[in-house]
Amino acid sequence: MRQYRIKRKGVNRMDAEFPTTITDLGIKNQVVIVTGASRGIGRAIARIFAQAGAKIIAVARDKEQLNTTLSQMENRENHLVLNTDLAEIRNCKEIVEIAEKTYGRIDTLINGAAVLSRIPMDQVDESYWQCINDVNLKSLFFLSRAAAGVMKKNHFGRIVNITSTGAYTGGLDNSVVYSTFKGGVITLTKGLAREYAGYGINVNAIAPGMTDTRMMALLTPERLREVVNQVPLKRMAKPEEIALSALFLASKWASYITGAVLDVNGGQYMR
Ligand SMILES: NC(=O)c1ccc[n+]([C@@H]2O[C@H](COP(=O)([O-])OP(=O)(O)OC[C@H]3O[C@@H](n4cnc5c(N)ncnc54)[C@H](O)[C@@H]3O)[C@@H](O)[C@H]2O)c1
Repeated sequence: MRQYRIKRKGVNRMDAEFPTTITDLGIKNQVVIVTGASRGIGRAIARIFAQAGAKIIAVARDKEQLNTTLSQMENRENHLVLNTDLAEIRNCKEIVEIAEKTYGRIDTLINGAAVLSRIPMDQVDESYWQCINDVNLKSLFFLSRAAAGVMKKNHFGRIVNITSTGAYTGGLDNSVVYSTFKGGVITLTKGLAREYAGYGINVNAIAPGMTDTRMMALLTPERLREVVNQVPLKRMAKPEEIALSALFLASKWASYITGAVLDVNGGQYMR
């Protein structure tokens, strides 16, 4: 049979390297920064990427818990833990400097760290607003920009931001400020995707639904039962189920995905 090849002037038909086998995710030997790696979803991400052969820079605020994460990771000698406060812009720059100095490059950045206190509307003050901005949005901008500076040198990079279903719904119980900044994470994701598209850097987000971590333990058991019952899959996600989506977005399999938000929410919110 004759084969026809469509030729169009000036159109780049293939610019991506494809997996050679169905198991080749392209994660092995990647240098990956994971923020929020001391527990919950970030810890699951660090563990799964380590299992896939990546070298991890695990970032969070609590040293002891970070060391626990490290103790649960495969090939422990390949990884680094950094106990630092992402609210400070200079720390974001330092994380990237350390990663580049240690490993010579950065392939993937997973922006997983965030804070949430369920504060009633009337008790929200300026310092709480500022704190949520600093950790949940500002740090993502400055860390992504610094990491992209290194990724550009290899014309390859993946940035995965963790937003929330709350970005669409306005959030569960006393989380207006948190959800507002999570909405900002979606806009930031799209803006960075456009900004870095010409440098081989794909930027995407994951919007988890209720996931079984300390964050969900802020609800009373009765309230938690009530909201979980409204989820079509009738359960919370395991942190590992969010981590696998991050692995996919950092993999070669996601080479044509950028500026997207992947909903991992058991059907809780269908867009
Ligand atoms: N658990 C859920 O149901 C749920 C749902 C939707 C979205 N998310 C998002 O998923 C991500 C992970 O959530 P989680 O449930 O694992 O939360 P978690 O509270 O268990 O972990 C938060 C992590 O962020 C780190 N962190 C917080 N402030 C920091 C700071 N100033 N500097 C450095 N590190 C800091 C903590 O040390 C910790 O490692 C967050 O972005 C969260 O908003 C969670």
